[in-house]
Amino acid sequence: MYCTRQITNDLTYIGASDRRLALFENIYPIAAGVSYNSYLLNDEKTVLLDTVDHSVCMQFMENLSHALNGKKLDYLIVNHMEPDHAATIGEVVRRYPEVKIVANAKTVAMINQFFDFDAQERSLIVKEGDTLNTGKHTFTFVMAPMVHWPEVMVTYDTTDKILFSADAFGSFGALNGHLFDDNIDFNNQYVHEARRYYTNIVGKYGPSVQALLKKAASLEINMICPLHGLIIKSHIADFIEKYALWASYTPEEKGVMIAYASIYGNTENAVNILANKLSEKGVKNIMVYDVSSTDCSFIVADAFRYDRLVFAAPTYNAGLFPKMEYVLHEIKAHNLQNRTIALLQNGSWAPTSGNLMKNIISEMKNITLIENIPTIKSSLKDEQLQSLEELAESLK
Ligand SMILES: Cc1cc2nc3c(=O)[nH]c(=O)nc-3n(C[C@H](O)[C@H](O)[C@H](O)COP(=O)(O)O)c2cc1C
Ligand SMILES: [Fe+2]
Ligand SMILES: [Fe+2]
Repeated sequence: MYCTRQITNDLTYIGASDRRLALFENIYPIAAGVSYNSYLLNDEKTVLLDTVDHSVCMQFMENLSHALNGKKLDYLIVNHMEPDHAATIGEVVRRYPEVKIVANAKTVAMINQFFDFDAQERSLIVKEGDTLNTGKHTFTFVMAPMVHWPEVMVTYDTTDKILFSADAFGSFGALNGHLFDDNIDFNNQYVHEARRYYTNIVGKYGPSVQALLKKAASLEINMICPLHGLIIKSHIADFIEKYALWASYTPEEKGVMIAYASIYGNTENAVNILANKLSEKGVKNIMVYDVSSTDCSFIVADAFRYDRLVFAAPTYNAGLFPKMEYVLHEIKAHNLQNRTIALLQNGSWAPTSGNLMKNIISEMKNITLIENIPTIKSSLKDEQLQSLEELAESLK
């Protein structure tokens, strides 16, 4: 049975959610699922804006057929070619052979890479600033290269002032009845998964996101229709404000995030003592994560959130504990900058984890590394409490 929602008189939500998928992109845990959003505009011409992942293909096809209500499908605008949105293009073309694909040249080339039909002959190729009139509505296209992939563009409906923002302004999380952000608590609730989604998926490409924000600033926007998560109406300014911080690698809040690794519990013990000291010194936001039990994507998200970070790890086979190595590699790979970072190392015979962490961090931009790197040789001793005290003092 179709499961669609009316957004405006002539715009219908025809996407669907997946609550079975354990890992988005086969890497990010999504306990609350994910939605693949797709939209149908029913104007003099009918326009489909992006498609969905394979997993919800059948629901989407029923939705599309219902929303078309017997009309033919005239256009398919493809904003992004990643298969979570594009996997179903082949099926759409098979079922609606007259459809004209509206996309930029890079996208058309990618359609040919992913599919076997000739995309060129059925495409209307658009570039920055081009328009498409469909009757009452006129769309304009804004290129957004590297707001995830190089071919990404966003589409603006100049009539209803709706921005179809591709992966930008999306979030993890299935849609559970609500389609709009009207009733959500954006700052205390929605933003957390939106942050984890943004930082992990697009966080590396801050300058590209800033370029898109600059272009979007000249548009009057009543509604943002992203490819994942809720449609944004009431929190457009809040969301843009967060994106401006994330894209410029500016901490959102004051706070200390401590990520540690520990095999036998001694590094963990030192970290707990450090966290207590931070609290006693008045630090309000303190987050402590064990890199072996908290997925890296949550740690990356909080590294973007807070201004001070601590990494504590044992030495492991003359190297760095592997899960810590992965976390630091990910944080560096996501281009995080402008943070104060402290380290703490442990080792029973030749501790080197501190230097190894330092090496990774030294490749990150604009980092203030706290010079004092306390060394634990197996377990924390009385005489080392002073060193932790000093570390807490320099982090407070
Ligand atoms: C597989 C393995 C390899 C290790 N390799 C080293 C090493 O190369 N150098 C070192 O000083 N300690 C090494 N250690 C010891 C730990 O780093 C050390 O015992 C540390 O105190 C553990 O801290 P924890 O109590 O937080 O787990 C190794 C431990 C394990 C289990
Ligand atoms: Fe994407
Ligand atoms: Fe996506």
